[in-house]
Amino acid sequence: MTVQSGLLLEHCKAAIYLESEIHNLSLIPKACRQFNQALEQLREQYPDAMLGAVVAFGDNAWKRLSQNSAPELKSFVALGKGNLAAPATQQDLLVHIQSLRPDVNFSAAKAAMDAFGEAIRVMQEIHGFRWVEERDLTGFIDGTENPQGDDRPVVGTIAEGEDADGSYVMTQRYEHELAKWEKLSQHKQEQVIGRTKPDSEELDEVPETSHVGRTDLKEDGKGLKILRQSLPYGTASGTNGLFFIAYCATLHNIEQQLLSMFGEKDGKTDRLLGFTKPVTGSYYFAPSLEKLLSL
Ligand code: HEM
Ligand code: MG
Repeated sequence: MTVQSGLLLEHCKAAIYLESEIHNLSLIPKACRQFNQALEQLREQYPDAMLGAVVAFGDNAWKRLSQNSAPELKSFVALGKGNLAAPATQQDLLVHIQSLRPDVNFSAAKAAMDAFGEAIRVMQEIHGFRWVEERDLTGFIDGTENPQGDDRPVVGTIAEGEDADGSYVMTQRYEHELAKWEKLSQHKQEQVIGRTKPDSEELDEVPETSHVGRTDLKEDGKGLKILRQSLPYGTASGTNGLFFIAYCATLHNIEQQLLSMFGEKDGKTDRLLGFTKPVTGSYYFAPSLEKLLSL
């Protein structure tokens, strides 16, 4: 089996995230093949762009498209309480496009709309950009502990069986409160993240409620790893933040980190949530390319 072309890419400069409701499921199989054909043409036309895409489905759609697949898949449920809550805005279809070139990404997104447009209603379209030194808009380097090279497929894709080279996906759009964040001293910001700001060194003592403290989890001595492909988005004058997206061979790892951040494991929450809020949240399954093209 073959992993979809956008899933494992490293150091992309830009992404487009399209999340949609499906209102005509019967059109979807053909749309997947049409989109893939257009995508392959763009990949040939612009080899320097390192273009890739992932098409993934929410639980309701996937159950109807494919039986006995992705047993862990479920709809996203809201987590946490009050102003530390993660809302559920589960959609049916995710198209994730990424590359070194925003211009080529736009062509691919147009191709996605040509293929899927009649079957879907787009609920969210976010254009992400890589910021300086691969930093999130908080100013901290994002991705230091992300798996690299050969570890990416190990962490990000299912190894064998019916769903080989497929992947579980989670998306959450976060809106940052940068004015509030930037009032903190660098020392306090580092206590919130759990790493140093200039060079992303892990602190000697990582606070339990820091972001790293909440997400660097172990089970039976083994790290719960995920593959993050998030990027900053938004405008300087208005709304901005991080479009969080993670891929994993098992939904379990992603979910455990979420539960830990939002106080659903031990009552403790991630201090980062005082400065950024999720406003959307969905789970998806991204099948292998072969499975996608044979729906
Ligand atoms: C690490 C930022 C949301 C999972 C980090 C780091 C930063 C960061 C700066 C440290 C550097 C690194 O290793 O990449 C953010 C921001 C978020 C966010 C700004 C939201 C606005 C999330 C969410 C999850 C997550 C929702 C999972 C559900 C992780 C993991 C690590 C990490 C697994 C690595 C921990 C380790 O092993 O040391 N994040 N993150 N993050 N984050 Fe996030
Ligand atoms: Mg670590």
